[in-house]
Amino acid sequence: ASTLGAAAAQTGRYFGAAISTAHLGEAAYVNTWTAEFNGVTPENEMKWDTVEPSRNQFNFAPADRIVSQAKSKGMKIRGHTLVWYQQLAPWVGGLDANNLRSAMLNHISQVAGHWKGQVIAWDVVNEAFEENGTRRQATFQQKLGDGYIEDAFRAARTADPGAKLCYNDYNTDGINAKSTGIYNMVRDFKSRGVPIDCVGFQSHLSSNSNLGSYQANLQRFADLGVDVQITELDVGGSGSGQANVYRQVTQACIAVSRCTGITVWGVTDKYSWRSGDTPLLFDGNYGKKQAYSAVLDTL
Ligand code: XIL
Repeated sequence: ASTLGAAAAQTGRYFGAAISTAHLGEAAYVNTWTAEFNGVTPENEMKWDTVEPSRNQFNFAPADRIVSQAKSKGMKIRGHTLVWYQQLAPWVGGLDANNLRSAMLNHISQVAGHWKGQVIAWDVVNEAFEENGTRRQATFQQKLGDGYIEDAFRAARTADPGAKLCYNDYNTDGINAKSTGIYNMVRDFKSRGVPIDCVGFQSHLSSNSNLGSYQANLQRFADLGVDVQITELDVGGSGSGQANVYRQVTQACIAVSRCTGITVWGVTDKYSWRSGDTPLLFDGNYGKKQAYSAVLDTL
């Protein structure tokens, strides 16, 4: 196969990119996205501060622009994200516990309901753990306690029963304290019938990332009975060092049958969120990098 999407499809997987409405007017951006990728995650457009800037007033239009283009190309769409302590609308921070709980459940019901049947997977909860494997002490945790995560998953299942429901986080690129905290939560959810289907590994990496237990970590989650997905891959660096890290991540996903797809966090270095870094597969002129070939050859 000659594109990332087609190569991934040979093993039933997708290869996606985060896309921003800010660049949809740039032909090279759209052309590279639609030629090479068969999946998409809206980079910011489904986040709380964009979709519900005021209580119970929803703004779906920006993400809908991405969703409609993606659907016209038959792409897989990942929803990102329903419950996260960042990029949260300011009004949410002022709520007391009872109001916060009802606002969270309403947000999930309205947002997941709006795209019901259209997204393959939702990042229901994002970045809820600390590096040491305990729950991150931020808005939802502080006011609602541990139960908010399973409440969010149950609400998402009701709103869009066909979507895979994922927990998503970063610095989970091996067997470590953080990934083990998440592993224990997923194991608990599976044992109690809380609806969780997948775990997303953001994988914001660099050329010197140690990936010694990357595949084993994916596999231990898969063995709990959930799918795994690489959700926000980017690798700081350049040349062969960067290409090798991309190759290792791709190899790990291919080796784990429940690893269903890879998403890179952008198309071109020109628009990466890691400013000053060059972490993506296409350079600032949309040229294919060494990392691109490494991934294509490995898929
Ligand atoms: C980033 C976006 O890429 C930026 O445009 C935005 O300013 C901040 O958020 N983890 C996540 C993503 O789950 O949503 C973040 O995306 C990157 C880190």
